[in-house]
Amino acid sequence: MAGKIPQTFIDQVVQQTDIVDLINGYVELKPKGREYGACCPFHHEKSPSFTVSPDKQFYHCFGCGAHGTAISFLIEHEGLEFIEAIEQLAARLSLEVPREQGHVETVNKSAQSYELLEQVNQFYQKQLRQHPAAIEYLKKRGINGEIAAAFDIGYAPEGFDTSTKAFPKATPAELEEIGLLSKNDRNHLYDRFRDRIMFPIRDLRGRVIAFGGRTLGDAKAKYINSPETPLFHKSDNLYGLYEARKALGKLSRLIIVEGYMDVVALNQLGFPECVATLGTATTSQHIQRLLRYTPNLLFCFDGDRAGQDAAWKALQQILPVYADNIDIRFAFMPQGEDPDSFIRERGADAFAAFLKEASSLSGYFFQKLGQEVDSNNTEGLAKLASLAKPLIAKIPKTVFRDLMTKELNQRVGTVVSNTGIMREQPPVKARSNDRGPRYTKTRLAIALLLRDPSLASKALDIEQLSQLLGTPGIDLLIEMLEILEQQADLSGVSLLERFRGRPAYEHLIKLLDWDPPDMTNREVSFVDTMRQFEKDIKRAPFDAFIQDNTPEI
Ligand code: UTP
Ligand code: MN
Repeated sequence: MAGKIPQTFIDQVVQQTDIVDLINGYVELKPKGREYGACCPFHHEKSPSFTVSPDKQFYHCFGCGAHGTAISFLIEHEGLEFIEAIEQLAARLSLEVPREQGHVETVNKSAQSYELLEQVNQFYQKQLRQHPAAIEYLKKRGINGEIAAAFDIGYAPEGFDTSTKAFPKATPAELEEIGLLSKNDRNHLYDRFRDRIMFPIRDLRGRVIAFGGRTLGDAKAKYINSPETPLFHKSDNLYGLYEARKALGKLSRLIIVEGYMDVVALNQLGFPECVATLGTATTSQHIQRLLRYTPNLLFCFDGDRAGQDAAWKALQQILPVYADNIDIRFAFMPQGEDPDSFIRERGADAFAAFLKEASSLSGYFFQKLGQEVDSNNTEGLAKLASLAKPLIAKIPKTVFRDLMTKELNQRVGTVVSNTGIMREQPPVKARSNDRGPRYTKTRLAIALLLRDPSLASKALDIEQLSQLLGTPGIDLLIEMLEILEQQADLSGVSLLERFRGRPAYEHLIKLLDWDPPDMTNREVSFVDTMRQFEKDIKRAPFDAFIQDNTPEI
């Protein structure tokens, strides 16, 4: 097993990486004063609000709030883990990643889980080939071999101890942790998936993280999904997203359907741009994830009551993340049909024609609310206004929101007071210099140190500063000075990256992003904060004296 990567190497990689150069490989950066600008790679936009600062080695988007260092960029944008990000940055710099000798890395649990899940996935596929009844079922559903292979569809055989027998090297606890074993009332572990067609669920990097299983017969639960596990969170994963990206590369749109079988059938019949939520309602995390890949989302829900409810819930998750350049539509299947049955019965052209008829977001919004009120009388119109106003208020300040207000006014036939609508806006991230934390001298000292670690040589002694422990942030400042005492030539981001994974990291990011007033002459400002600390230290015993002896008035 590989040893740990030495900290000095991580520092070196962070130090030698130029964030401008790195991000320029993903989006074209244009010089803009001392920074660089581009359209944000984390959300869709037409005018650039993404900036990269070579000075701070930091990116920030004024539109969606994404921010971070080169490592953050690889983690957030490419879905890498920390070590993988280091490896990738090292490769760019043509550096070989050293591993500490004699030090065996603490067993990486998640890597083992991914590996086990992949083995289970292979096992289920092998089982499918050995169970004619399962193959027969897929045939009956119209699934061909090619598409079954593309989605790695498999079969979990009958039996309560299949996986413990098939994977004797894995402990029952490990099998339980990846969601394969379930526990009964008597604490007995048994196979969750039995006699089911298995659909592996992959994360964005293609790693199997969970399964969905459909009964071949008429078991009470038609589908069973893996439970939430350390690797699998239903609220931000979608079935088929990895496969869609793999098939198409850049996605011009995504169709969101309700079921596994819908995704598979639509793929087979010429619509690879399909995803499904995993037996849960659409969350705003899902929507934000999808909008990273395309601004065009088409929800295709069943025409029944459940489908209607699901669509309305999805709409409410969309409103707060709405932007003017996105196009979200809703299509409802005819009663009793789902995309799978529709496309198999009527063919791909009919399905494409059906999608063309999808409602716009606003169309669906007013149609749905219209159903709930009687628009023929004043009371009904008043109710329409009272239902619509709080929803419109959830939309960020966009042209769309203004138009929705206008449309509501037209429908209601009166001017709906704008105040009610304007009030509940989510805070809009302003393009201003005074964003970020409130000014304190500790924050200023830390912010300056992050920009210019060599200032540490101008700092007070750690022992002196320790007298101020208890003042918020002093402990962090001291820790930074201690690190710099060990390694004086650390760059700001390297210093920052030493804190990754700790609560302090987010505070430090904010301070790096902050543009406090007196940063022009860093050294003067830093020395000044130290002078103020010195005064505080001198005053400290006196303050304590006052506090202890002041008689109560
Ligand atoms: P549906 O009941 O609409 O099933 O569930 P379906 O996709 O049409 O399935 P087939 O065609 O009968 O095979 C839609 C989705 O809801 C979740 C699953 O993700 C399913 O794909 N679901 C459904 C469950 O999680 N559990 C269930 O018992 C049923
Ligand atoms: Mn179906």
